[in-house]
Amino acid sequence: MNIIIAPDAEQAVAQAAAIVAAEIHARARPVLGLATGRTMERLYALLVADHENAGLDFSTATSFNLDEYVGLPKEAPQSYHTYMHEHLFDRVNMRAGYGHLPNGTAPDLDAECAAYEELIRASGGIDLQLLGIGETGHIGFNEPPSAFDTRTRAVELDPVTRAQNAEMFGGDATAVPEYALTMGVGTILDAERLLLLAVGKGKADIIRKALLDPMTPDVSASAVRLHPDCTIILDDDAAAEWRAHKSE
Ligand code: GLP
Repeated sequence: MNIIIAPDAEQAVAQAAAIVAAEIHARARPVLGLATGRTMERLYALLVADHENAGLDFSTATSFNLDEYVGLPKEAPQSYHTYMHEHLFDRVNMRAGYGHLPNGTAPDLDAECAAYEELIRASGGIDLQLLGIGETGHIGFNEPPSAFDTRTRAVELDPVTRAQNAEMFGGDATAVPEYALTMGVGTILDAERLLLLAVGKGKADIIRKALLDPMTPDVSASAVRLHPDCTIILDDDAAAEWRAHKSE
């Protein structure tokens, strides 16, 4: 596990964006695992700027997002489908149809999840998986408890997560969908490389738990410690609790 601490959020995000850009440069056909959330908005803005100013080329890239709400139409402003189109897909030269997200309105969710796993396999697997972390310690929407061998599936969202994401739903946690589709922890661990990015004081406590407490399905982010090639980028605030306890 390679832990990088940047002095502030801007520099943490810039380092993460540089790793994603290097991966795109290095591969003839990069397969990216993408994440959503407020932290990633700035990262995608930097990749868009790199595309506009330095020609970062997405034309051979394929991507798979971690998760999507169940029951929200794709076109809803809060869907992760909309988020990805607004922040990345429509602003770079991604080929139409190569930016994949699980379909949370599929009539048969189990079949949708199995098809998503198959599509990842058929694309040769994910080269670099970007991860954020939720207040429950989730990666993707792997809420506690999520076994480390779980695959893409429907999950019930934790009340803490619904409260965390309420801002996008007019501040009303009850308006946040109750269920989501998410890559499993096992699906995430299958990626060749992991890149977890967390910034801000609000993440300090859960980062300490994920990185220092015993690994547990109750904090699915703790599973990244099992991965042989995992980079974690934190800003000073998100690293504070980890730093204070790491030598205990
Ligand atoms: C959502 C996503 C997670 C992401 C989290 C972090 O819950 N499903 O994959 O890690 O948001 O969000 P933020 O960056 O807004 O703190």
